[in-house]
Amino acid sequence: MADSHEAQDAQGRDTQAQVSEAQIAVHWREEEYVYPPQKFIDQANAADPAIFDRFHEDKFPDCFTEYADLLSWDQPWHTTLDTSNPPFWKWFAGGQLNASYNCVDRHAQASPDKTAIVFVPELESDDHVHISYSELLRQVNQFAAVLRDSLGLKAGDRVTLHMPMVPELPVTMLACARLGVIHSQVFGGFSGNACGTRIADSGSRVLITMDGYYRGGKLIDHKVKADEAVEEAARQGQEVDRVLVWRRHPRQYSSQIPMADGRDVFVDELLSEHQGQVVEPVSMPAEAPLFLMYTSGTTGRPKGCQHSTGGYLAYVAGTSKYYQDIHPDDVYWCMADIGWITGHSYIVYGPLALGTTTVIYEGVPNYPDAGRPWRIAEKLGVSIFHTSPTAIRQLRKLGPDEPRKYDYHFKHMTTVGEPIEPEVWRWYHSEVGKGDAVIVDTWWQTETGGFLGTGLPALNPMKPGSCGPAALGIYAVIYDENGDEVPDGRAGNICIRNPWPGIFQTIWGQPGRFVDTYYRKYNSDPASTDWRDWPYFAGDGAVRAADGYFRILGRVDDVINVAGHRLGTKEIESAALTVGEVAEAAAVPVIDDIRGRAVEVYVSLKPGIQPSPEMENKVTKAIETEIGKIARPRNVWIVPDMPKTRSGKIMRRVIASISNFADVGDVTTLANPEIVDDIRHHVPRQLTELEYEEIKKFGGE
Ligand code: WTA
Repeated sequence: MADSHEAQDAQGRDTQAQVSEAQIAVHWREEEYVYPPQKFIDQANAADPAIFDRFHEDKFPDCFTEYADLLSWDQPWHTTLDTSNPPFWKWFAGGQLNASYNCVDRHAQASPDKTAIVFVPELESDDHVHISYSELLRQVNQFAAVLRDSLGLKAGDRVTLHMPMVPELPVTMLACARLGVIHSQVFGGFSGNACGTRIADSGSRVLITMDGYYRGGKLIDHKVKADEAVEEAARQGQEVDRVLVWRRHPRQYSSQIPMADGRDVFVDELLSEHQGQVVEPVSMPAEAPLFLMYTSGTTGRPKGCQHSTGGYLAYVAGTSKYYQDIHPDDVYWCMADIGWITGHSYIVYGPLALGTTTVIYEGVPNYPDAGRPWRIAEKLGVSIFHTSPTAIRQLRKLGPDEPRKYDYHFKHMTTVGEPIEPEVWRWYHSEVGKGDAVIVDTWWQTETGGFLGTGLPALNPMKPGSCGPAALGIYAVIYDENGDEVPDGRAGNICIRNPWPGIFQTIWGQPGRFVDTYYRKYNSDPASTDWRDWPYFAGDGAVRAADGYFRILGRVDDVINVAGHRLGTKEIESAALTVGEVAEAAAVPVIDDIRGRAVEVYVSLKPGIQPSPEMENKVTKAIETEIGKIARPRNVWIVPDMPKTRSGKIMRRVIASISNFADVGDVTTLANPEIVDDIRHHVPRQLTELEYEEIKKFGGE
């Protein structure tokens, strides 16, 4: 696999100098099946194997009307899948609906007092807040009135949100959706600069933020980032004329940063002008964009993944029903952040479309201690729990015996975002799930809207470390570099042969990049309007076992998945290069026992500049400023020079091997082979036991 991936990437460029996550993937053996308990099967939404026939390839694309029928449509669609302009698929063409109506109004009519959202503030001394469907409807209406009448926003406008994990975030998203305004929520932990870049790219003239929020027990000043964001957007040519500031504590300002006159305004003050106002949901075409979600790609410019209203909502509703097994009376808690796709699809849109109760937790899992998630679960009676391998690893490390101290019962648990080590899976199963909950491992991406690889919990047994088979109506395949299918047990590029309703529509403002990145590689006939000629290239390495279950190895492109969050190597490197003294920078993935992968950055300095700890700090700070703390490198190594090919390309593969204590391979063809040993002396490091084990498996020293 290493060899095949070095030859070419998605764009057909020479990637000799790159290294992918998939190349440093650990080699787990196939695990035994684990079966779901009978009492889970007895209540499951999908327990009849006839469902596999309903989604068989010969029923495509009409099989997906089963998902669309979970929604209320203002006008039915005339074409299930319009393939006239590939790969810009149109699902449920001709149909009209409103996402906010589907997630709020219809449930507020049917069961007004039912809890839609439970907000759990990070401080344990603060009470939980229950928001009923009728209360949610009131808040969404009122805020939609602000957006429409005070700001003049209308369908098709883009608005950037930079909000923390508070119920005001889904209220804001749903108010936008009510008007057909396209929301673009930027993860709250991203820096002001990163937010500014996304404001500029999406062409937003309004930013919606919050003054502060709790994290790790501290009230963080968040408004400061709004000012940085507006400044950065202006530098990139986009003026922001309104910044709406929600207040974390009503009537009390939690930031040190002054409100800018004429630009910044408190949301609670605007809301008081629209008390009790009702805003009719705007009926939107199924293919109208619902939101943008930015993600990292192989160049520095982030990609605004554009998701549709009808197809997306149908797909997240359907997968929430069958894979999350959400019933109306469940208390469902996904511990992800709404600022990522997981939160959009499986905290907000999927669960609310089904009318369930969704939990929003403001803070970090281990505040004030590693028992917190289990106390929340006990107190709220959470029945479905959803988190990432990173969180599981961390809770396992900090509080291996905590779950058993609490009296909660999960019927179902999800893992998402990265491969989960079988050992960690087993702890999740036996300790967190008390041996009684099913685990659904879900492989998918920002681009894909919802799950691609995952098992139906009552029908497909679990296999630790494997995400399971392809989801209903998803026809997955593993290709080699030439587009030939690889035999089972061999690694290659995982692709989806068909379109599905949750697939993103395009990259905002970059349709050419959309086609090039995801479809060019395996399309043999650009003129074809047959979907069979347009396999979707996911950018992940994977292996399929004989039973059809997939194991995802990691990214095959220049993206590093840190704690389930995608970071582009180019983004990190250009951030490092904003430091004036830095001549060259290379970012590489390394194995990390909590975060799966971490980033290490190698820099060489301009002539005459001496290496120093201050210089390392400067590089780290620059990365935090440009991207956010999430991209903070585990180490910054200052090296005399980078290993390079004769044509002058930095050999990241060699650097990554050094960082992972692995064999660097043949370096004799480098322009400067002697530098390899020299660099090695710059990376002394203590390994944790788990890392050591992983590295040994990977064939390191
Ligand atoms: C990785 C998150 C293994 C994969 C929903 C993918 C996974 C990238 C899994 C997308 C999983 C996600 N097992 N790897 N269950 N889920 N990935 O866009 O490399 O933030 O391409 O979407 O995460 O990350 P993104």
